[in-house]
Amino acid sequence: MAALLEMQQITKRFGAVTALDGVSLRLEAGEVMSLCGENGSGKSTLMKILCGLYPAGDYQGEIRFAGEPLRPATLRDTERKGIVIIHQELALVRQLTVMENIFLGGEITRYGAVDDEAMALRCQTLLAQVKLSLSPDTRVSELGMGQQQLVEIARALNKQVRLLILDEPTSSLTGQETETLLEIIRNLREHGIACIYISHKLNEVKAISDSVCVIRDGKHIATRPADQLSEEAIITLMVGRELTALYPREPHSIGDEVLRVEGLTAWHPLKRDLQRVKAVSFSLRRGEILGVAGLVGAGRTEMVECLAGVWQASGKGAGRAAFILKGSRRACAIAARRSPTASPWCRKIAKKMASCR
Ligand SMILES: Nc1ncnc2c1ncn2[C@@H]1O[C@H](COP(=O)(O)OP(=O)(O)OP(=O)(O)O)[C@@H](O)[C@H]1O
Ligand SMILES: [Mg+2]
Repeated sequence: MAALLEMQQITKRFGAVTALDGVSLRLEAGEVMSLCGENGSGKSTLMKILCGLYPAGDYQGEIRFAGEPLRPATLRDTERKGIVIIHQELALVRQLTVMENIFLGGEITRYGAVDDEAMALRCQTLLAQVKLSLSPDTRVSELGMGQQQLVEIARALNKQVRLLILDEPTSSLTGQETETLLEIIRNLREHGIACIYISHKLNEVKAISDSVCVIRDGKHIATRPADQLSEEAIITLMVGRELTALYPREPHSIGDEVLRVEGLTAWHPLKRDLQRVKAVSFSLRRGEILGVAGLVGAGRTEMVECLAGVWQASGKGAGRAAFILKGSRRACAIAARRSPTASPWCRKIAKKMASCR
């Protein structure tokens, strides 16, 4: 079978850093391939080359798509051919409606005027395809992350996508939203749409992929059918050595108290009568890891955001975490970089901490 996509010997340098060193991959129509690798292994760079964010000439190597050479100069060039990338940081305009976002730059027109009726009809079909029961007129700012992700996919479907690239799509989705996303990808596969899926969550990689491609330090390590690789085998390929324990318990001593939170309470910034954090108290000591458990919507994120000063809150401890994190940034940055399964959120914090003085 002719390949839908062939990337051959792709090499990309950023100054002295070789982000990609002769990476090749091949994908058939309707194939779901997961791209796995540790942080900084080159996954996003490879995808940015594929979708034209790093234009031809910025890298070495050849790309062929649907039997033709692909030398994109911009993102638009690849979108026109049916290659659509969805980044972890969503690219929707929050002030616009779902419909306006889906058709942004590609409005349906009739006799030279924008045809709202036709767009609303098409929009409803697209939303149904991604299992979203929303009015096309809903403002994106009213949607949760999972729903926004699905609107992005609806927008991709409107562009007659042939290859959908999802770069860490589920990092901020709930379990249910992730399930819906995986279901949609399976559905797209049945319609011959190929997908490149980047995720650190190996259970999802195993659940969705036909094949798994592993890169390490910018080099292609292996591409194998997903059913021939266990999660442990993928990690071994990613890190280049066998891991005896994924989360090794390292002996360490617990020091003095560094943070005390007492009666932390916060209200929703817009809905002032909605209390999101209610009288939370705890104490944290140097070297201690505190787990925060709770159901979706329980207020865990808001609680941590209060500590970091993102939310205005009352009670002892509000706004203190930003200071504490700064103090221990080196340790956290090293821990996050070492962990093959560190969440993107954790890595982002680590990057921020590494760059702050
Ligand atoms: N714009 C840039 N300028 C300089 N170096 C870069 C740039 N983008 C990426 N790099 C470097 O290229 C390498 C590959 O980065 P890339 O973002 O592709 O990794 P990744 O596999 O997507 O990592 P992650 O899992 O953290 O998203 C890293 O060493 C990174 O620091
Ligand atoms: Mg990346």
